[in-house]
Amino acid sequence: MTETDWQRLEEAARSACAHAYCPYSRFPVGAAVLTTDGSIATGCNVENASSGLTVCAERNAIGRAVADGAKSIVAVAVYTPTPQPVAPCGACRQVIAEFGPDVKIRSLCAGPGRAEHTLDELLPHSFRLPGQP
Ligand code: THU
Repeated sequence: MTETDWQRLEEAARSACAHAYCPYSRFPVGAAVLTTDGSIATGCNVENASSGLTVCAERNAIGRAVADGAKSIVAVAVYTPTPQPVAPCGACRQVIAEFGPDVKIRSLCAGPGRAEHTLDELLPHSFRLPGQP
């Protein structure tokens, strides 16, 4: 994962955030996923009047990557227009865990701050079925 890869991914996450549908929280989130074949899929949060049906940006980006044919994921960027970077929620961490403990996750924001972790750092001892990576 080069810094050039990260720049592309960060830009895609920032652009996706502009499409967030968040009339209830007014908290837009954009995410971008880099797949092992080098393609990028984006997603934003999509809220619902029935709150539990809201889907986070990260999970929408992963859904799109898989629908476009991705089999594995290298990195995820998450953008929020906040002063400090925001980490993915627990549900999104578990969904990212599906693609292995080494997936890199970088959070970026409106300020200069960045947070970067592996999935295993954010969700140690995550649930996996026997034989999963
Ligand atoms: N949200 C995300 O899109 N990703 C996360 O990891 C955490 C939260 C969204 C869900 C909801 O639309 C809004 O942020 C406020 O919780």
